[in-house]
This record gives sequence, C-alpha cells and structure tokens, in this order.
Amino acid sequence: MTKHKLIIGDCSSMKEIKDESVQLMVTSSPYFNAPFDYENLYSSYDEYLKVIKSFAEETYRVLAKGRIAVLNIDDMLVKGEKYPIVADATRIFIDAGFKYRDRIIWKKPEGYVRISRRSGVLLQHPYPMYFYPDNLLENIIIFQKGNYDYKSISKDIKEESLLDKKEFQENKWFLTLWEMTNVLPNAALEKGIAAFPEELPYRFIKLFLYKGDTVLDPFAGSGTTMKVARELGRNSIGIEIKEELKNIILQKVGFNGQTSFFNQEDEIEIIFKI
Ligand SMILES: C[S@@+](CC[C@H](N)C(=O)[O-])C[C@H]1O[C@@H](n2cnc3c(N)ncnc32)[C@H](O)[C@@H]1O
Repeated sequence: MTKHKLIIGDCSSMKEIKDESVQLMVTSSPYFNAPFDYENLYSSYDEYLKVIKSFAEETYRVLAKGRIAVLNIDDMLVKGEKYPIVADATRIFIDAGFKYRDRIIWKKPEGYVRISRRSGVLLQHPYPMYFYPDNLLENIIIFQKGNYDYKSISKDIKEESLLDKKEFQENKWFLTLWEMTNVLPNAALEKGIAAFPEELPYRFIKLFLYKGDTVLDPFAGSGTTMKVARELGRNSIGIEIKEELKNIILQKVGFNGQTSFFNQEDEIEIIFKI
C-alpha cells in the first residue's frame, strides 16, 4: 500500500514536511509570467526568483542526503523580452547547496508551437535580422544533494525496484534528448493547468526512486506526479496553491470515491494551510 499527502498552500514554506524525509523531488514550477498560463502572476522577475529561491531552499531541507531534485522549466518570452529562467534557476539551486548533475532537453512533436509562430516574421520580411525561431524544447534540470550511499538500500528493495533495460534502451532514456508528447492545453483534466505528460515523472520515479520511497511535487497542478507515484508503488506529497484544483487532483490520483484500478488500501491525507 502507498501513502499520499496533498497540501493546499504555498510551497515557499514546506514546514509540514520533516527534514530529509523525501527521496525525490519532481516538479514544473510556473514559467514566470508565461503568456496564456501565468500572465501577470508575479509583479516582477525579482519577485518570481524569490519564490524559486524559497522553493529551492525548502527542497534542499526536506530531501534526504544524496537524493535528486528535478525541475522542468524553460526560458520565457514575456512581452517581447526573453527571461533566462533556466540559468537563473540553476544558479539558485546551486546556491541552495545542490550539485548540478545533468540537463535533459525535452523535445515536443514538431507542429506543436504554443506561444507564437515567431518564425513567420522572416517569411514576411525575408532579409537578414528577421530570424526568430519557434521553440519546440523545454529544459529538465537535475540536481543532487551531496553524495548518495549506494549501500543504504537492502537487496530486497533493490530487486523490487529493478528497471526494465529494454524500456530504457528502446525509448532512449540514456540520451540527454528526450522526445515526449506534451499534454494538449485543453485536455479534460488538465485544462488551463500547463500539465506535463505522465511520461516525465514516470521516467524520473523509475530512475531515481526505490519502492516505498516518497516523491515530492511542490507545484502539483493536476497531480500528475502523485498519480504516477501511486501507479508505481511509491508514496507522494503534492503541494498546490490553488484550492480549486483539489478535486481535479483527487480525481487524477484516484481518490475521488469512485472504484479505481489502484490498490484500495492506499491512503490520502489532505492538509489545508490557507
Ligand atoms: C506548471 S503547473 C504544474 C503542472 C503539473 N506538473 C501537472 O502535471 O499538472 C504549476 C502549478 O503550480 C501552482 N503554483 C504556483 N505557485 C505556487 C506556489 N507558490 N506554491 C504551490 N503551488 C504553486 C500553480 O497553481 C500550478 O497549478
């Protein structure tokens, strides 16, 4: 059986979570004031970076030694200005104490350009200096809290968490380029949430979390990470600031009272801090 906790509130403080009590963090925070999704959410870029700083420091505190923090994020063009969010978030996580471990580039299917078709400018003005590419990529930055003790896991738990080498090789998880289909913005459960595909937390949970361990998603959105954790026999903690997403999360994670294919003994606890 697995245990899940949904905290409705701001992840700038995670005082409901004990020091070094989670074994993986996977999340996608807002991309500053991204058009369509987060227009005017933050009064300034500095205010946004302060939220990222508090979330990085709290993640460092609650993560067990040697474990991994994964942030799906990207640079963002807001009102004609490009913000270097990936570089700034990387620096903030390093300053919070993390080692910078890796960067994966997530490539979406061609034809999916959400924000704008900037490349059209060149077709209207086919001269030098009119080039603005359409973005098909997102970044996934991976950090580690010090060194991991590989001997700390029992033989039984290792066997239970065995990876499928065929899946790893056929889907090219070994590359720094991951091709994954995105969630459509108007999908039923994820409408207006900017959800990531289940494939993203699925890969990281398989790659970095043993059975029985706990994954944290401080920007839970529709609860994708929690759902995948439950499916894979791992515990989860999600934090979401928007109370109106509570029922969507419960539905996605299979705790809405309807019979589901999940283990019926799994538990959910809901904490309101706002
Ligand atoms: C990019 S979405 C996450 C989507 C999620 N990965 C999914 O698959 O559904 C970011 C979420 O963070 C929430 N959020 C924004 N600021 C927050 C904060 N300070 N604390 C907790 N949640 C926050 C937003 O309401 C939004 O639902």
